[in-house]
Amino acid sequence: MDILQRVELFSPDLIAGRVAELADEINRDYAGREPLMVCVLKGAYMFFADLTRRITLPLEIDFLRVSSYGRSDASSGSIRFLDDMHIPLAGRDVILVDDIVDSGLTMDFLRREISARDVNSLRIAALIDKFERREIDLRVDYAGFRLNEGYVVGYGLDFAERGRELPAIYALRRQDQA
Ligand code: IMP
Ligand code: MG
Repeated sequence: MDILQRVELFSPDLIAGRVAELADEINRDYAGREPLMVCVLKGAYMFFADLTRRITLPLEIDFLRVSSYGRSDASSGSIRFLDDMHIPLAGRDVILVDDIVDSGLTMDFLRREISARDVNSLRIAALIDKFERREIDLRVDYAGFRLNEGYVVGYGLDFAERGRELPAIYALRRQDQA
């Protein structure tokens, strides 16, 4: 029988250090502006809370949820809003914050939807930039960690809704058991 084993990749201290560096970059890049930071639920909730508390600029925050497609149905047409943002986006400097960019289909959908609302600028932050399965040419402006492959959980990221509360990030490994 297959069981999944967790192997720690990024410790809480390592994550905190990296999040602080990303916040510093954003503080520098957006000096004199008031960005609107948007959290893509649910996966980005922990990253978003830690990142925004280190932003020293005036800031507004909002949240959105999108439907996730099944892995066998990876077409961008199947992605839609479950909960949309509430703050008007026109003229705003929007920073979209997600947990992980994998194929890029979700971010591509959001990028199109948000760009169509007359924003002043749009940048993407993601805790993890996983590029092995990338299908869309998409640049993550603020990437916490880059991974080539694997499935990760913890610090907001889940496997079938499990593992979001873990303070570290783990890779799931298949372990064959008699
Ligand atoms: P994409 O549309 O393929 O880029 O997928 C993005 C979404 O898939 C992310 O926001 C996650 O919710 C989920 N996802 C992709 N890879 C992982 C992973 O390794 N762990 C947890 N969730 C993942
Ligand atoms: Mg997600």
